Amino acid sequence: MAKLNENYSKLPATYLFTEIGRRVAKFKSENSSADIIRLGIGDVTQPIPQVCIDAMHAAVDEMSRAETFHGYGPEQGYDFLIDAIIRSNYAGLGIERDEIFVSDGSKCDCGNIQEIFSTDSKIAITDPVYPVYLDSNVMAGRTGDLQSDGHFAGVTYLPCTAENNFAPELPKSRVDMIYLCCPNNPTGTTLSKSELQKWVNYARENESIILFDSAYAAYITEAGVPKSIYEIDGALDCAIEFRSFSKTAGFTGIRCGYTVIPKTVCGRDRDGNLKPFNPLWNRRHTTKFNGTSYITQKGAAAIYTPEGQSQVKSLVGYYMENARIIREGLQKAGLEVYGGINAPYIWLKTPNQMKSWDFFNKLLTEVKIVGTPGAGFGACGEGYFRLTAFGDRQNTLRAMERIQNDLRF
Ligand code: MLT
Repeated sequence: MAKLNENYSKLPATYLFTEIGRRVAKFKSENSSADIIRLGIGDVTQPIPQVCIDAMHAAVDEMSRAETFHGYGPEQGYDFLIDAIIRSNYAGLGIERDEIFVSDGSKCDCGNIQEIFSTDSKIAITDPVYPVYLDSNVMAGRTGDLQSDGHFAGVTYLPCTAENNFAPELPKSRVDMIYLCCPNNPTGTTLSKSELQKWVNYARENESIILFDSAYAAYITEAGVPKSIYEIDGALDCAIEFRSFSKTAGFTGIRCGYTVIPKTVCGRDRDGNLKPFNPLWNRRHTTKFNGTSYITQKGAAAIYTPEGQSQVKSLVGYYMENARIIREGLQKAGLEVYGGINAPYIWLKTPNQMKSWDFFNKLLTEVKIVGTPGAGFGACGEGYFRLTAFGDRQNTLRAMERIQNDLRF
């Protein structure tokens, strides 16, 4: 009899957002007339920029003629997109063409990256955290079982709470892989240049690798907050970065992201020799992936034109105005809130120390609003709750009215 990968049995049966979807569907089936406002999963609601639509239409037309038709493209992505990415996001930061790998989204990349590390690597993750980093390492057997404190054995958790201003402390014992998400999902907070420098210094001293998820970089509004880990001295030696078009340009349903692996980022082989990770990811990518569609990459590249940049700016501005409405609306309702300044997520403290899932139920049943329980992102998220700014304006305003007028706590 074939055997199952037992590591999967260590995980909760369903992925966080699948579980939320299940609970909301159940509520809806029992309350069919309920007017539910969804501010749970960070999924965008507004149309993608017109430049992307036009570029994708033109790309479809190219597909209709043999002379301009495109079959398989380079698995790593077309140069027209990679060059535009370097020009716009990495100018002067020392990133080269063969260090960028275009993909169908950074969720997959964040989940798959662990494959190029040894299975006995020690991981450190912030807590709370985007579930993909941890779950993918559990699946790969890099952790022990889930313990009664909500933590997996063998994982170094780095608590990020209001008490430490959501800035994680360095691990007490050495780790190999460090996941940092900045701007952070779920807390909506950021790390300063000097905080990030501390992590880069740690990684270089300990031969660790930082896996830096900056999917929300476009949402940084304050000057001085780094958008890329490569703005930090020494990061070219120890950091891999993930970026996404999902939140930048509304591509959640179109799917495009990329991973940056400088050739100077190295690990040790079994003989103790330093070897770069870049060729391993190249091997993996070319073996398991046939490239992001030409049409999608044409759409993605369009955001780097001057017109594209201004359309992205207004799209991001729309969601950040929602973030302001949520932040101020919740504060007016008497809640303690974080984030929402450099990120499209607002992280709130549940009232009266209510458990996160209890607050989820209260919000859903009393005011028909879906959010995400902080505990779903890790044990240190207990007692917190996340709302997303990706709703449409009308629903965002209505949600705040309901919370201010009809929610009793
Ligand atoms: C979230 O709600 O945390 C995001 O939508 C998840 C994702 O980008 O996969």
